[in-house]
Amino acid sequence: MTQDELKQAVARAAIDYVVDGEIIGVGTGSTANFFIDELAKIKDRIKGTVASSEATAARLRGHGIPVFDLNEVESIAVYIDGADEITGQGAMIKGGGAALTREKIVASVSKRFVCIADGSKLVNTLGKFPLPVEVIPMARAAVMRRLAALGGQPRLRTKAGSDDAFITDNGGEIIDVAGLQIADPKALETEINGIVGVIAVGLFALSGANVCLLGTADGVKTLSF
Ligand code: A5P
Repeated sequence: MTQDELKQAVARAAIDYVVDGEIIGVGTGSTANFFIDELAKIKDRIKGTVASSEATAARLRGHGIPVFDLNEVESIAVYIDGADEITGQGAMIKGGGAALTREKIVASVSKRFVCIADGSKLVNTLGKFPLPVEVIPMARAAVMRRLAALGGQPRLRTKAGSDDAFITDNGGEIIDVAGLQIADPKALETEINGIVGVIAVGLFALSGANVCLLGTADGVKTLSF
């Protein structure tokens, strides 16, 4: 099976976690896009969605699925999203698609986090994938020095084919930190959260996934945490 077929399989399996008549939180990225396309087939069963990025909102609306502003919503039944890496304990690195802050916000309001990922995302130790950190632009250099002091190699994310900083949906910038071996994800998340100028770090460990649907050659495996 190709990686896209694995992503499609987990996206399809995630439909079983959709709660009828409720609002569903929807993540960002290629796996989440497959999920959106599956959700479109059962859109009449749900009240609507909250999106974790402008790109996801546009794709949902393109399918005629209602998208609510989070401020209009009191609770979200389930949040469904991909990950860049996930451990056997449900801790994740997210933010390869630059939506980490809104992903964290929507996930925090959701009763359950269902991670959908192809098998290549399962790791023993987080950190091979550079850790994304969203920052207020004026704090960029100061935060980069602090991240370097933690042992990583921070690098400003730029727009494709340009030296200009990539700007997120929130007006922030992204620093990708390579070279971290994250032995204690909760401790590192707490430490980076404490750096002034950081909007959010793409570590989802203090509050990780509740379930992971993992696409493998032997079918979709369900990991519960
Ligand atoms: C988006 O900001 C990320 O958190 C994505 O969930 C993550 O990058 C996974 O993306 P893919 O599904 O495209 O691998």
